[in-house]
Order: sequence, then structure tokens, then C-alpha cells
Amino acid sequence: MFTRKSALVGALALGTLATAAFAAAMDPDVRARQEAMGLVGSNLKRIASMVKGDVDFDAAAAQAAFAKIAEKAEMVPALFETKSNSDPEAEAKDAIWENWDDFTAKAGALQMAAEAGMGVDSPEALAAAMGPLSETCKACHSTYKE
Ligand code: HEC
Repeated sequence: MFTRKSALVGALALGTLATAAFAAAMDPDVRARQEAMGLVGSNLKRIASMVKGDVDFDAAAAQAAFAKIAEKAEMVPALFETKSNSDPEAEAKDAIWENWDDFTAKAGALQMAAEAGMGVDSPEALAAAMGPLSETCKACHSTYKE
């Protein structure tokens, strides 16, 4: 039913979308690395919702999510090596480029943890692979993300 309230909710949702679009990074380098990280995030969410039981275990979907994360992790060095960090939407710390070897090692850890999950064939294996994977996010974000 179309009511004033639903119109208002719709308008608010549109407003939020417009704000999100406006807030997107303008620098294509920053946007590219944020898009890659966004995919890492959405695929981890897919894995987490299976672990929590919100979504039924699906081996193929889980394996695909790990594979996507591994693929994006492998791109991290190339995505960050431009040192672009003046976009106001960038959340990368300059420490990345001061500690490049450590940063790329942390990207390597992400890739390895994701590859370790690419063969999961049971909910137990999925849960076991998710823990170490999410540790690698924290290990990097705590030092290198604002
Ligand atoms: C090697 C370091 C590193 C690892 C590992 C890493 N991230 Fe990130 N992540 C970053 C950095 C740096 C940013 C900020 C990028 C920017 O804004 O310029 C970021 C940003 C993000 C964002 C925000 C993207 C956006 O739209 O602005 C999400 C979501 C994210 N990471 C999820 C994850 C998840 C989930 C994992 C683990 C599965 C992970 N990241 C692992 C470094 C890492």
C-alpha cells in the first residue's frame, strides 16, 4: 500500500543512496582498491552467514567466495602501489608505503587463508577456514586502515 509513510521511507532511502554515491572516492586508484576490498568484504559476509546458519551451507558457493577473496588479495600489491592517498574518501594509512614489505606480506596472508578455504566441503571445514581468514583482515586493518 502506498502511504505517506512509505513515500517518506522511499525518499529517505533515495537520499541515502545519493549520499553514498557522492561519498565515493573520485580518485580512480582509490576507487579501484576500495571496490576490490568491498568484494572481499561481501564475500566474507557470504561465508559468515553460512557459518552462522542464516544461509544453508552450499559448498560451491562457499568455495567461490573464498576463491574471489584469494583473487582480490593477489591484486592488493598492484592496487596499492600507486601511493594515491589524497582523496578524502581514502581510508588507507600512509604507513602502508613506509612498510610496504609488511603490507604486502599481510596481503599474502589474506591470499593464503582464502586459498585454504577453496576446498571446503562441510560446514565444519567452512567454520574452521573462516576464523584464520578474518584474523588476516584485522591484522592488516588495525595497522593500515583508518
Ligand atoms: C593487506 C592489508 C589488508 C587486508 C589483509 C585486508 N584489508 Fe580490507 N582494507 C585495507 C585497506 C588499506 C583499506 C582502505 C582502502 C582505502 O580506503 O583506500 C581496506 C578497506 C576495506 C573495506 C572498505 C572498502 C570501501 O568501500 O571503502 C572493506 C569492506 C574491507 N577492507 C574488508 C576486508 C576484509 C573482509 C578482509 C579480510 C577477509 C580485508 N579487508 C583484508 C587493507 C586490507
